[in-house]
Amino acid sequence: MKFTGTENYVATQDLMLSVNAAITLQRPLLVKGEPGTGKTMLAEEVSQALGMPLLQWHIKSTTKAQQGLYEYDAVSRLRDSQLSDVDGGERVKDINNYIIKGVLWQAFTADQPVALLIDEIDKADIEFPNDLLREIDRMEFYCYETRQLIKAKHRPLVFITSNNEKELPDAFLRRCFFHYIKFPDATTMQSIVDVHFPGLKKELVSVAMKTFFEVRNLPGLKKKPSTSELLDWLKLLLAEDIPAEALQTKDNKAAVPPLVGALLKNEQDVSLFEKLMYMQRTNR
Ligand SMILES: Nc1ncnc2c1ncn2[C@@H]1O[C@H](COP(=O)(O)OP(=O)(O)O)[C@@H](O)[C@H]1O
Ligand SMILES: [Mg+2]
Repeated sequence: MKFTGTENYVATQDLMLSVNAAITLQRPLLVKGEPGTGKTMLAEEVSQALGMPLLQWHIKSTTKAQQGLYEYDAVSRLRDSQLSDVDGGERVKDINNYIIKGVLWQAFTADQPVALLIDEIDKADIEFPNDLLREIDRMEFYCYETRQLIKAKHRPLVFITSNNEKELPDAFLRRCFFHYIKFPDATTMQSIVDVHFPGLKKELVSVAMKTFFEVRNLPGLKKKPSTSELLDWLKLLLAEDIPAEALQTKDNKAAVPPLVGALLKNEQDVSLFEKLMYMQRTNR
């Protein structure tokens, strides 16, 4: 089992190496990186390339570790017990009917090896990663309500992503293989653009990429545009049939390039960019 990239996803050599290291070690792959650097997509593409179904768990600030294991729906059981005509009361007797299986339960009991994505783990509260340590380590947990030990038939391939909003506990980190997806350099970005827009006019791409990296390198920018935002912008430029010349500053009357709202998401950044464009124009 080895990951060698896919035709939809541009994986650098070191990223492929990390994926394969996690597979070899049978440890979760912890992927960090700026938003939009392809962390979620990595899990989708690897699972597809290796022919494994992907179970996804998108973490929110309110997500609890227990929800990934199972939840006991006591309220429904109580309601059913009061309405004794439900199945003649048969359903209520079996507690299994009120156990809602979480993604880990599903992953552990799947008949074939699966991939499991725990997406944006840093969204949850600080205890969340610690609460999952044992399950991820031992690949088993106990369901008290049914007195069952749920043990993984096959060890799932686990991907954990983080946007770095919170630090993760050391005990948790020790159990993972870590990879930081660096922001793509111009060559890698070119390949990513090619994957999404094959046959796009070279000139438009090169001017758009130049503008994009200029924007990203602006000192003091509040929010740097990401890969997915560049792709959005290119999509819009294509849809609106905007020529490469319109993006160049030379005789352009407009303060900023068209549809720059795809890249810049707040007014301070837009005005910063306007200043840069103004300086470029007056220097010529
Ligand atoms: N290496 C890559 N190859 C191809 N497309 C990419 C790559 N990285 C990012 N993208 C594009 O950017 C989008 C956002 O990626 P995503 O996985 O959602 O980022 P993240 O989870 O890191 O925020 C993807 O849907 C894809 O279109
Ligand atoms: Mg994501």
